[in-house]
Amino acid sequence: MLLGVNVDHVATVREARKTFEPDPAMAATLAILGGADGITVHLREDRRHINDRDLRLMREFVPCELNLEMAATDEMVKIALNIKPDLVTLVPEKRHELTTEGGLDVVSQKELLKETIKIIKDAGIPVSLFINPNIMDVDISRNIGADMVEIHTGLYANSRGLKQVEELHRVIDAAKTCRRIGLLVNAGHGLTYYNIGRIAAIQDLRGLYIGHSIISRSIFVGIERAVREMKELIRLYSTSVIHTKISYRK
Ligand code: PXP
Repeated sequence: MLLGVNVDHVATVREARKTFEPDPAMAATLAILGGADGITVHLREDRRHINDRDLRLMREFVPCELNLEMAATDEMVKIALNIKPDLVTLVPEKRHELTTEGGLDVVSQKELLKETIKIIKDAGIPVSLFINPNIMDVDISRNIGADMVEIHTGLYANSRGLKQVEELHRVIDAAKTCRRIGLLVNAGHGLTYYNIGRIAAIQDLRGLYIGHSIISRSIFVGIERAVREMKELIRLYSTSVIHTKISYRK
């Protein structure tokens, strides 16, 4: 199972002082040395963390999957066509949110998304949609031309006990449906060293996209080691070497 590491939060620290350090590009290099299969950056409309220079620079040297998360706007599409990342993940974006709060509203935005997917795919760039774990959204994603989806795991990550089991099953069912209809499927958001087990054990998943927890651990152990430890957990859980228990801890 692939691990894409999101380095936005390194840029968040840089932007706290509007200075030159820490550099998310340097973080990307170390994450790759630690075994990351890909690097993700979210270029937001307000450039609150990653900026255009970071994206340009990473396009120059990232040798594995460079995944650009972006809103389906004219400005972002223009940037994607110019930079040509290895993957574009379309996400909803609200100016005042702390982080992406949920999956795309694929029902009401169907036409806009379909048009955006076509433009990006015509330029030879695969497109993924960040969606909530439900079967209708999976079907719509396939019908409007997405190459793959990333299932939002935030509700799973933020719930506990029986509610967490329910949320887990929503992710499992959505992933199974994707596999059945031939849509590649990833998962991400809110995943940590403590809650990764049950998600990594879902055999239908192609990959996991993780940011905050890895960057948080890296403050204490360094990025290379933080990524290596997450890779190892994913390997162990996805190959069932260790059995998964629902975690009640954050
Ligand atoms: N996937 C998507 C689509 C996201 O927007 C984010 C957050 O930027 C992530 C994954 C990573 O989430 P987290 O930082 O909680 O690991």
